[in-house]
Amino acid sequence: MPRTYMDANATTPLLPEVMEAMRPYWMEHFGNASSIHLDGQQARTAVDRARETMAGFLNCHAAEVVFNSGGTEGDNTAIFGLLRPGDHFITTSIEHSAILQAANRIAQRGVETTFVAPQPCGLIDPAEIRRAIRPETRLISVMLANNETGVLQPVEEIAEIARATGAFFHIDAVQGAGKVKLDVRRFGCHLLSISAHKMHGPKGVGANFVRRGTPMEPLIVGGTHERRQRAGTSNTTGIVGLAKAAELAMHSLEDGTMLRLASLRDRLEAGILAVPGTGVNGAWEGGRPVPRVANTTNIWFDQLEGEALVIALDLKGVSVSGGSACHSGATEPSHVLMAMGLSKTKARASLRFSLLKTATQADVDYVLKVVPAAVEHLRALSPVAAGTLG
Ligand SMILES: Cc1ncc(COP(=O)(O)O)c(C=O)c1O
Repeated sequence: MPRTYMDANATTPLLPEVMEAMRPYWMEHFGNASSIHLDGQQARTAVDRARETMAGFLNCHAAEVVFNSGGTEGDNTAIFGLLRPGDHFITTSIEHSAILQAANRIAQRGVETTFVAPQPCGLIDPAEIRRAIRPETRLISVMLANNETGVLQPVEEIAEIARATGAFFHIDAVQGAGKVKLDVRRFGCHLLSISAHKMHGPKGVGANFVRRGTPMEPLIVGGTHERRQRAGTSNTTGIVGLAKAAELAMHSLEDGTMLRLASLRDRLEAGILAVPGTGVNGAWEGGRPVPRVANTTNIWFDQLEGEALVIALDLKGVSVSGGSACHSGATEPSHVLMAMGLSKTKARASLRFSLLKTATQADVDYVLKVVPAAVEHLRALSPVAAGTLG
């Protein structure tokens, strides 16, 4: 059975061009980028070139790009690298666990965190960030795009608040990269984290933008790699793959791919909403759409257990997610949807559909063919009365 993959926010496959760009660095150009001989220099040149590409992708200087192992490390580095005992940290209750768990850990070292809740539509109100500021606030961290709802946060306004109060500002842009244009100068942030595997690059590699002069302590110490900001032999192959993925992402941000993707997502969403007892989580505020990335929709289904629908769709060859990937398998409902005010039951009855940028009309048609039947079948078995979620 051919599979229809609608879980791009969990991870994406390599594009063939990315694979081809990486291929020589596994065996032929295997050198250590820190070695002075020719093999080392070949690797070094590839890493330098990749750094230039990433600087173009982020609109920063090459010296402000620090390669690392991905989004989790990037997020952790922002928090552990900047915060000291007695500092105050502001973030939101809808961040990825890479931020939330780091905030919990640093509490043990005497850093207090304020978790700002979103509005019911999933947007963070910058006024709430301003209200949370204290004299000792050193860092604010807000994601660019939420992994579960796709809602884009007003990072430029938040950066303005950080600037006015002298706090550092970190953006987790893992789910925004490749979906919206990244521009660290326009965003006004000091730090920004991305991960290759969310944008058709390899897993286990990413990068942090670190604005020049930001007083970061490295998270990982050892050698002098990455200008002493991140020790460890350079993952040349991964770095080359990240840069190729970024280069391709820059093209698809300009060639209409995102408009095509948004129209496919909107068709998918409208088709699913034709099923009675369904609704979108976090897309609308007072009758107006809130900004979202083009590929994501999060939908609740009355009288259903989300996990059961994930499994039913999987059996029909469709991959979707019932919360963030890191939480699937656990029975806890999504902390993001709960923070938006959904009940436990409604959060549990919600599914995320996230399209690859290579998604086709046929993918959407197939999903729209199988979802109504799967929902009807599960509802017939459900002990929950209809209309309980409203
Ligand atoms: C918003 C966000 N931040 C951070 C991460 C972690 O990135 P990585 O998988 O590269 O560690 C993810 C992954 O799901 C994410 O969605």
